[in-house]
Amino acid sequence: MTLALTSSKGKGKVGKMVKEKISKLFRLLNTFHAKLPDQRTFSTSCVLHNKILSTGADKKSSSPRVLITGSLGQLGTGLAKKLRARYGAENIIMSDIIRAPREILETGPYIYADILDFKNLQEIIVNYRIDWLIHFSALLSAIGESNVPLAMRVNIEGLHNVMELAKQYRLKIFVPSTIGAFGPDSPRNPTPDLCVQRPRTIYGVSKVHAELLGEYYHFKYGLDFRSLRFPGVISGDTSPGGGTTDYAVVIFHEALRTGQFKCYLREDTKLPMMYIEDCLRSLIELMEAPNECLKLRTYNVAAISFTPEELVKAVKKHVPNLKVDYVPDHRQAIADSWPQVFEDVNARKDWGWKHEYGLDELCSAMIEVTKPYYVDNSK
Ligand SMILES: NC(=O)c1ccc[n+]([C@@H]2O[C@H](COP(=O)([O-])OP(=O)(O)OC[C@H]3O[C@@H](n4cnc5c(N)ncnc54)[C@H](O)[C@@H]3O)[C@@H](O)[C@H]2O)c1
Repeated sequence: MTLALTSSKGKGKVGKMVKEKISKLFRLLNTFHAKLPDQRTFSTSCVLHNKILSTGADKKSSSPRVLITGSLGQLGTGLAKKLRARYGAENIIMSDIIRAPREILETGPYIYADILDFKNLQEIIVNYRIDWLIHFSALLSAIGESNVPLAMRVNIEGLHNVMELAKQYRLKIFVPSTIGAFGPDSPRNPTPDLCVQRPRTIYGVSKVHAELLGEYYHFKYGLDFRSLRFPGVISGDTSPGGGTTDYAVVIFHEALRTGQFKCYLREDTKLPMMYIEDCLRSLIELMEAPNECLKLRTYNVAAISFTPEELVKAVKKHVPNLKVDYVPDHRQAIADSWPQVFEDVNARKDWGWKHEYGLDELCSAMIEVTKPYYVDNSK
């Protein structure tokens, strides 16, 4: 790098010192760029580290400033709530392209951010001094198939924007992946972290692209890219966004609202699933795990696998008169190409992942959360 100092300060002894200091700064910056991120050394084991964090130690003093894209979806609202409690409300910037409800606006910063608008995202990152980017904006599997050009723009072009900005501003970035990143040629029971990935949906293709690009940016530029392949996520207080596993959320609402449920998957369709509490905790634990614990940049995380029939049996413990019809539609073909059981040994070994909600715990939690919305059909 050549420096041209043209002012009077560029001449004489002081000018030489300034020039040397600036050169040193550039050398230092170049060294940082060549290095992998977060190369601090930790003496404790990674698993122990996460156990300590999950006891809720006060971390607000050294809190990261986090931007969540697509934050008004099924996962973002709950995550923002948890991160605000952990790092302070003002440090968590929620964003999306839709209008936020009043309760969101009252609990912390919320801004408009279209992930296709690079310049606007850049301004947000600079103005809010963002450290972490949690990239949730996406079109999910079933919705993506019905609008492939838009899915390609949001899931691929949008990803390129956030990856490039994360690289430029040295952000830690989380991009969720999915069981949908596997396809009919992948082993389905169990599905390990590393195996053939040939998905047959645009959603799956865009997620494999994200996994590979994240890994590439990590090794090429030292980007601190982290990703988890989530199973179908089940939540009570936020609606699912058009995925193939949505039936496992809708059943609770229909059971309590009408006592009847029409399932769009066959009764024996086994898929990996996870309760939202486990899902959001896994994300926070991964983001807080010391870098040297991570042997992979994308991990499978698992909790339970069940079929619609098994779920119905468990829901009937709470709503005994529930009536269910199975009328498979186009989503059956997607489900048939996805993993049945997810193997997450690496997440458990490397950073101490452990799920807490089994099928019965999940059903009890879902009934408790959804019941207040409906007339009581459970008796
Ligand atoms: N929900 C699940 O079961 C599940 C499972 C695996 C992975 N994931 C992943 O987790 C992430 C969040 O999922 P979710 O269920 O909350 O999705 P969702 O569909 O509920 O929410 C996605 C959000 O993205 C926003 N969005 C769409 N276009 C946008 C744009 N151009 N700019 C900015 N925002 C835009 C939408 O308004 C929406 O609020 C996604 O990347 C998804 O692939 C979800």
